[in-house]
Amino acid sequence: MERTLVLVKPNGVARGLVGEVVARLERRGFEIKAAKMLMVSEDLASRHYAEHVGKGFYKDLVDFITSGPVFAMAVAGPSAIQVVRAMMGATNPVNAAPGTVRGDFALDMGQNVVHSSDGPESAEREIGLFFAPEELIA
Ligand code: RTP
Ligand code: MG
Repeated sequence: MERTLVLVKPNGVARGLVGEVVARLERRGFEIKAAKMLMVSEDLASRHYAEHVGKGFYKDLVDFITSGPVFAMAVAGPSAIQVVRAMMGATNPVNAAPGTVRGDFALDMGQNVVHSSDGPESAEREIGLFFAPEELIA
């Protein structure tokens, strides 16, 4: 069993895609261990995107993720990190395969609808940023 953080980003929430993303994860067999709607603060955004500080797209990234509510989930299952990233599709939606979330619902690199963690350390770090221990189902 592995855990990963999934975010439905502000454009995904605004477009009513929360249910779509949740349904895909549940149908695949993943368990949702925590979930909530929240506004991401500048502080949370800078922690979540710490690896991207200094890159050209950093300001746009923070502006976007703080622009409206996001839906955050801790998702658990076998090889969750790798499998969920495959279900979300390539970072640039132009390259995302049909059948993936980005391949079905996005075209813009910045507004690519979803986030999922890229490794075991980032997954646990990101889950800890978005959820208190008591918010997580064991
Ligand atoms: P995410 O973190 O959102 O799941 O996406 P990812 O791992 O596939 O991509 P990552 O490298 O972590 O980048 C985070 C987000 O930054 C935007 N980005 N823009 N203009 C660019 O070159 C560029 N590179 C990344 C994307 O919105 C990406 O989701
Ligand atoms: Mg990433």
